[in-house]
Amino acid sequence: MSKQRSFVPALGKSEFTNSYDKVIAVMTREKRWRPLVVKALALKAGETIVDIGAGTGSQSILLKQAAPGIRVIGIDPDPEVLAIARRKAEAAGLDIDWRQGFGDEADGILGSGLADAVVSSLVLHQCPMEVKSGILTAAHRLLKPGGRLVIADFGLQRTFLMRTLFRQVQAVDGYEYTQPNAEGILTELIPAAGFADLEERHVFPTHTGSISIYCAVKPS
Ligand SMILES: C[S@@+](CC[C@H](N)C(=O)[O-])C[C@H]1O[C@@H](n2cnc3c(N)ncnc32)[C@H](O)[C@@H]1O
Repeated sequence: MSKQRSFVPALGKSEFTNSYDKVIAVMTREKRWRPLVVKALALKAGETIVDIGAGTGSQSILLKQAAPGIRVIGIDPDPEVLAIARRKAEAAGLDIDWRQGFGDEADGILGSGLADAVVSSLVLHQCPMEVKSGILTAAHRLLKPGGRLVIADFGLQRTFLMRTLFRQVQAVDGYEYTQPNAEGILTELIPAAGFADLEERHVFPTHTGSISIYCAVKPS
């Protein structure tokens, strides 16, 4: 079923996937914004966290290192990135559950009401509109009542400089899927999926446009 569907690979084309970690480290200064995602999640021992579009696993690994007592499930449709994620987690001695699947089908694969928190980083900007909405709706179904959502992604590009820098992402991932993010669509889609208390907690300028960290909750 999932194998018939297409998706945009981590760096736009699968031949670039092996360079993904190096490019993201330099172009987004991930060492600065990924810890803000960990902090925003306010992790507690015993919790289950689902990372939608986990890619090469950098965010999942940071979560597990920050809070070894949590269970982390990373889901992504691309077996190539999951192989990299597995190798990285094994090298770091971390037990993370990697699953192949699409984010908008994640609740069907993992089970509804399973997660205390759902995180997704740098995924929605490269998805079609219906998939952006589908992933957020699946995240809502994955969460327990009162569960937390943290999205880190290219959001509203507020200045001429950020809009210009973001064109590099648009050249790789295409204009159609990325432009709604640049116009701020996520602040409409997150509440539309049923989330409350939406807050844009950080806006982080990078060499490829600004990354916003959005926090919201599933009402109890
Ligand atoms: C730019 S990478 C981000 C990876 C990782 N979250 C990170 O922060 O580095 C985007 C990822 O989204 C995945 N992806 C694309 N379409 C998806 C979908 N419909 N559901 C879940 N993941 C998807 C890609 O396979 C890729 O690994």
